[in-house]
Amino acid sequence: MTTSILFVCLGNICRSPTAEGVFRALSAQAGLSVVIDSAGTAGWHIGKPPYAPMQEAARTHGYDLADLRARQFNAKDFDRFDLILGMDAENIADIERLRPAGNTTQVKLFLEYAAESVPSEVPDPYYTRDFDTPIRLIESACQGLIDQLRRQ
Ligand code: 4NP
Repeated sequence: MTTSILFVCLGNICRSPTAEGVFRALSAQAGLSVVIDSAGTAGWHIGKPPYAPMQEAARTHGYDLADLRARQFNAKDFDRFDLILGMDAENIADIERLRPAGNTTQVKLFLEYAAESVPSEVPDPYYTRDFDTPIRLIESACQGLIDQLRRQ
């Protein structure tokens, strides 16, 4: 069975494209068949590649985000994905506002999958200017998610 997973943040130029790129790399290494995408709850950066400092930090950790382009989350995503993962509580609230009546798609905070003791939200590096901490948190949650998918 192929699982489809959507990573969501606010702008879709920092955290969720990083999650998409890291998960793409780690799930391929693990030999998993997964459909992966990312989106932002806001439409400010539609069509743009990930934020340059985010791409630079990701590259340092071995992840190439250059081909990704931002898009906005929309209600159809509830039907297109099995699992929707938000980076923070505001993302979850913004996602839930668009949930169609009767839809039961799982929407969760991404860091629920992190193995170690971590905060519940991925801090937004667009504001904190710390681009490394999100990558480490995202790697941990990707690994936890992959471990769970392998057990299924
Ligand atoms: P992201 O970060 O949600 O991780 O992509 C942001 C990127 C851009 C903006 C806010 C957050 N912005 O205000 O343009």
